[in-house]
Amino acid sequence: MKDKLIKKIRAHESVVAILGLGYVGLPLARLFCERGFRVIGLDTDCEKVDALKRGRTYIRHVGAEQFQRWFESGRFCPSTDFSNACDADAIILCVPTPLDGHREPDLSYVTGSLESLLPHLRPGQLLCLESTTYPGTTHEELLPRVEGAGFSVGEDFFLAYSPEREDPGNVSYNTSTIPKVCGGETEACREVGVALYEQVVDSVVPVSSTQAAEMVKILENTFRAVNIALVNELKQVAHGMGIDIFEVIRAASTKPFGYMPFYPGPGLGGHCIPIDPFYLTWKAREYGLHTRFIELAGEVNTSMPEWVLSRVVYALNEHGKALRDSRVLVLGLSYKKNVDDTRESPSVRLMDMLRAGGAEVSYSDPYVPEFPEMRRFQFDLTSCELSPEIIGRHDCLLLVTDHDDFNYDMIQRHAKLIVDARGRYANGAENVYPA
Ligand SMILES: NC(=O)c1ccc[n+]([C@@H]2O[C@H](COP(=O)([O-])OP(=O)(O)OC[C@H]3O[C@@H](n4cnc5c(N)ncnc54)[C@H](O)[C@@H]3O)[C@@H](O)[C@H]2O)c1
Repeated sequence: MKDKLIKKIRAHESVVAILGLGYVGLPLARLFCERGFRVIGLDTDCEKVDALKRGRTYIRHVGAEQFQRWFESGRFCPSTDFSNACDADAIILCVPTPLDGHREPDLSYVTGSLESLLPHLRPGQLLCLESTTYPGTTHEELLPRVEGAGFSVGEDFFLAYSPEREDPGNVSYNTSTIPKVCGGETEACREVGVALYEQVVDSVVPVSSTQAAEMVKILENTFRAVNIALVNELKQVAHGMGIDIFEVIRAASTKPFGYMPFYPGPGLGGHCIPIDPFYLTWKAREYGLHTRFIELAGEVNTSMPEWVLSRVVYALNEHGKALRDSRVLVLGLSYKKNVDDTRESPSVRLMDMLRAGGAEVSYSDPYVPEFPEMRRFQFDLTSCELSPEIIGRHDCLLLVTDHDDFNYDMIQRHAKLIVDARGRYANGAENVYPA
């Protein structure tokens, strides 16, 4: 059964179902379509599925044009009907893995989507999880459910884990040029998983188990979280000493070995770095182990918005103004530059704190025309146009996300005061306060 499936995959005659058509699933669907596979896109969100059927995408950097063509030719079939999964030879899960209200892993999307799939699975399929999660998820959560449905994993069904390394907005690497790690529940599972990804990515890195593959992703994102925390702490120390941290990072980056630059900012955002390490923290407790670096990095990174706020208060004070009743314009609402993703964005927390302090808050972001619906924060706002007049009307501009589209010279010419949390302006620039 394994050899037959691998043969079908290598001939690009296999059908691939992608479950969860978000920031990860949609680029992956595009990649498989580009390489000639027929792709079934499954999502519970009918608005997304309808948009794709009408030839529109909802992620700015994923172009709509090809999707329309592929939909019309039948190569891409978006649907909310999970029974279509029985037509697929490989099914890839790209559903969210957030933290719950107690900052513990919420696997309900993974287990829920699998439960919906189970009645439609058939022998000879590969199921691969791509959502970021703690080591053991595939083995402890997916395997028993698949076996409980009567399959013999490694013989008539194949189960694998391959972490997604998508980096939205990265112009140097895309889904096909980022090497893909893959582990299987058995040797045969891994072989099938590797065979699938080899068709669409330049390099596949097999590892010995699904647990190892899951841990790879957690290591990568913990590495980032800890290093960002370190540089965020050093930024505050350097600031206290009158040293420009960005000058220091630039100079340190000339070292050809043993150093790689991380940049300080207003705090972490997105669906990955603030969340993923805590999946490991939770799992480690089961083994009586503590993840002190992760906790400390989380503490430093989550305190950054407070530090930035203190800089706004300081800068306004220098200009003879209190925060209360000041008009503050936040530049950039998404969590990182040149993307439209606002999940966990520090800009939103900052807006909330500014408003709680009595400031009149607005924002400008070319990627986010309307303040999105959020569970914890509500702002009835649309993005401000950045005209000289509007800039001049504000007491303070707070640069949180440094999109390349902003006209930084024009902003500086017309702003009364800028608090810069990204080091976009040269240190010592007139009316600019580093934060
Ligand atoms: N965004 C990134 O840059 C990135 C990078 C690497 C890894 N990841 C990981 O990939 C996973 C997905 O992240 P994302 O950013 O693509 O999330 P997303 O929210 O953009 O997309 C998830 C999609 O899954 C759909 N969905 C929810 N429940 C479903 C269900 N039961 N069945 C089918 N579809 C369902 C949602 O409607 C949504 O379209 C997460 O585990 C995340 O940590 C994300």
